[in-house]
Amino acid sequence: METVLSGIRSTGNLHLGNYFGAVRNFVKMQNTHQCYFFIADFHSLTTHPNPASLHENVKKVLSEYLAAGLDPEKATLYIQSDVPEIPELYLLLNMISYLGELEKTANFKEKVRQNPENVNAGLLTYPVLMAADILIHRAKKVPVGKDQEQHLEMTRNFAKRFNFLYKVEYFPEPEAFNFGEELIKVPGLDGTGKMGKSEGNGIYLIDSSDEIRKKVMKAVTDAGPTTQNQEMPDAIKNLFSILRLVSQAETVKFFEEKYANCEIRYGDLKKQLAEDIIRFTSPIRERILQIYSDSEYLKKVVALGREKARASASKTLKEVREIIGFRGF
Ligand code: ADP
Ligand code: TRP
Repeated sequence: METVLSGIRSTGNLHLGNYFGAVRNFVKMQNTHQCYFFIADFHSLTTHPNPASLHENVKKVLSEYLAAGLDPEKATLYIQSDVPEIPELYLLLNMISYLGELEKTANFKEKVRQNPENVNAGLLTYPVLMAADILIHRAKKVPVGKDQEQHLEMTRNFAKRFNFLYKVEYFPEPEAFNFGEELIKVPGLDGTGKMGKSEGNGIYLIDSSDEIRKKVMKAVTDAGPTTQNQEMPDAIKNLFSILRLVSQAETVKFFEEKYANCEIRYGDLKKQLAEDIIRFTSPIRERILQIYSDSEYLKKVVALGREKARASASKTLKEVREIIGFRGF
């Protein structure tokens, strides 16, 4: 079975974009691949979170992914900071990564622009830590969004460089993994292209029914179609895109016909959309709340993940140390 690995940011709640664009695929892959999913809490330290919120965020994110269907028995689901082999590999990879290439990274330059007062070395070596995350399990496939592709390319460079320097064929070169035809982009309801945390237009799995109704009723629309079968403007297409994800085929067809005949009432469409989103998210929301309050269960999940992740990580690190020349006396 091929190894798939993905890191999960340790802050922020899951929205429909994350769910349909990533998490749903993780859930499917658990059955067909050897999967490693971890919460990247070391990475979050670049912004100096306070200690209480650090733990709280990890717990929230873990509860949400479990509620959305990640199965700790099938996948290896762990917390990055539970695996000390990762920072050790990070240290070793730092010796073969160069200032020039790190400074050139698009994400780094963006962060420097956003926060010129906090350009720490962790930010600079963020891609090295990410490479350590991936290489520690010698993973071949990494499902990531577009913004992470450059980091993945750097991981390949570090892997190649290590192999070349030590004349081994040890690390595979990991590739970005997209889900082929299943790759979808969930739009926002504010007329913009994408639903996202930074866009501030997310409908979250944890949102209450009332919050969802409010968000959907505020969705951007237009004055309505005036000629039969006219093309939809983007804002209306967006409503239909989400409808297609959460509603029955007949419902979608019903509103498409109404639109084509210029009989559509956007209020009705939005009400239906809100109720169908709620029908979809509310069982997940209940599971999130239940898992979040079940400390015993979370403790077990984390312990199992740590054990499985460390078994694989310590094997790699032992071999890497051997290759580099650290030998026992
Ligand atoms: P956000 O944009 O909310 O910050 P992230 O960048 O943390 O989300 O994305 C985590 C994962 O969710 C990535 O794999 C990304 O491709 C996916 N994702 C995020 N937003 C969307 C969206 N609107 N449609 C499809 N996939 C998305
Ligand atoms: N940097 C990734 C993000 O912001 C998260 C991440 C950390 C990751 N380590 C990883 C993703 C390793 C894939 C593989 O989304």
